[in-house]
Amino acid sequence: MTDASPRSGDLCGHAIGVFDSGVGGLTVLRALRARLPGESFVYLGDTARLPYGTKSRETVVRYSLQCAAQLVARDIKALVVACNTASGVALEALRERFAPLPVIGVLEPGARAAVAATRNGSIAVIATEGTVQGGAYQRAIAQLRFEVRIVARACPLFVALAEEGWTEGPIVESIARRYLDELFAPGPGRPDTLVLGCTHFPVLRDAIASVLGGTVTIVDSASTTADVVHDLLQANGLTNPVFATPRLSLLATDGASRFARVGGVFSGAPLTADDVEVVDL
Ligand code: DGL
Repeated sequence: MTDASPRSGDLCGHAIGVFDSGVGGLTVLRALRARLPGESFVYLGDTARLPYGTKSRETVVRYSLQCAAQLVARDIKALVVACNTASGVALEALRERFAPLPVIGVLEPGARAAVAATRNGSIAVIATEGTVQGGAYQRAIAQLRFEVRIVARACPLFVALAEEGWTEGPIVESIARRYLDELFAPGPGRPDTLVLGCTHFPVLRDAIASVLGGTVTIVDSASTTADVVHDLLQANGLTNPVFATPRLSLLATDGASRFARVGGVFSGAPLTADDVEVVDL
C-alpha cells in the first residue's frame, strides 16, 4: 500500500528550512524550536548580502529564490521565510518555484497577532524601509480587518543597533524615542499596538517598551509563525513522529565568526564559528 500523500510519511524526519538576510531570523528559529522541539532545522543567513531591507523588490526576490534553492537541495520538508522584507515580496515566487513545498512567511502571522491584540483598532508597524514602502504589513492587516487605522515607519538604525549587540541603554532609548514619538503622539487615534515587523527588533523589545510605557501592546511574528508551522505540519502529516534527537544546521554566506558572535544575541545561546558552515549561493 502506498501513502496517499506524496509529501508526507517519509518526509517527516526531514528538516524545516529557515532563511533570513542575516542573523536576525534566529529570533524566529528560536520560537520555532521552542514550539516544535522534535523537529530538525537548517537555517541560512545571507550575511554576505545583508541588508535586504534597503534593496529593490526584484533583488530581494532573486536572493530569496537562491536562499531557498540552497535549502531545498538539503531536502527540507517545509520552508519558513523568517525575513519580513522577503516575506513581503517573495512568497508567491517561492511557492511557484518550489511547489508543492509548503512555504510560510512571517508577515501574515505578525498581522494576525496585531489584529488580535488591538483594542482601539489603531496599529503601528515598524520595519525596514523595503517592508514599509512595499506596504505588505498594511495590506495584510487591512485584509484581516479593513477598518483598522495603520501607521508605519521604517527604523533602519534599529537593525544596526541589534547587529552591534546594543540592545539597551540611553543611546538605544533616545533613537527609539526619535522614531516612535511621532507614531505615538497623544490623541484619539494613538495606536495601542506595535508590530515589530523586522527580525532584528525583538532583541530591542525591552528598550522600546520602556520608551512607550505600559499602555502599548508589543507583538512580533515569531511565536505566531511557530504556531502556523506547527498546524501546517500536522495538517499535512509532516510532523516528525519520533521524539528523536533533532538536528540543527546553521549556514551563512559570509563570516562564520561574526555570525556566531552576533547570532548569539538573537538566538539567546552562545554560538561558535565551528557551529556555522559558510556556503556560496
Ligand atoms: N531580515 C530583515 C527583515 O526582517 C531585516 C534586516 C535586513 O534589512 O535585511 O526585514
